[in-house]
Amino acid sequence: MRVLFVCLGNICRSPTAEGVFRAMLSPEDNIGVDSAGTGAWHVGNPPDGRAIEEAARRGNDISGLRARQVSAADFHDFDLILAMDRSNLADLERLRPADSRADVRLFLSYGPGGEVPDPYYEGGFDRAYDLIEQASRGLLSALRDRNA
Ligand code: 4NP
Repeated sequence: MRVLFVCLGNICRSPTAEGVFRAMLSPEDNIGVDSAGTGAWHVGNPPDGRAIEEAARRGNDISGLRARQVSAADFHDFDLILAMDRSNLADLERLRPADSRADVRLFLSYGPGGEVPDPYYEGGFDRAYDLIEQASRGLLSALRDRNA
């Protein structure tokens, strides 16, 4: 099972989700994790300083991650592609190759529902982290149930 978290820039929400979800995994889960952005502005960059700081405050180091853009290959390489908001989801549906069998959906469908609001301009990294943590727990239990 391979899971890809997707947001717009791949420097705030999706790298946070990658770090949070990866930290919850045990090796025997055998789940691969990555993140990417629909946009290319920040490719090669580390996460936003505010995202790094919020994660660090919760005991999670995401400073080593580097942004990349979603590619057509991702729709074949990943089983589950999780969008942070509806705009990301719409972009993914547009990019998705016709023969992709990946399951593409909103990340918070595994948590409280709705979207992880974009914190880049408005702030809200604390709230975003909480939502990501909740949905990560839900995702992990769903994937473990499926493998049981
Ligand atoms: P993210 O946040 O999608 O959670 O990584 C954003 C990062 C950068 C931009 C927008 C959102 N931007 O416009 O550069």
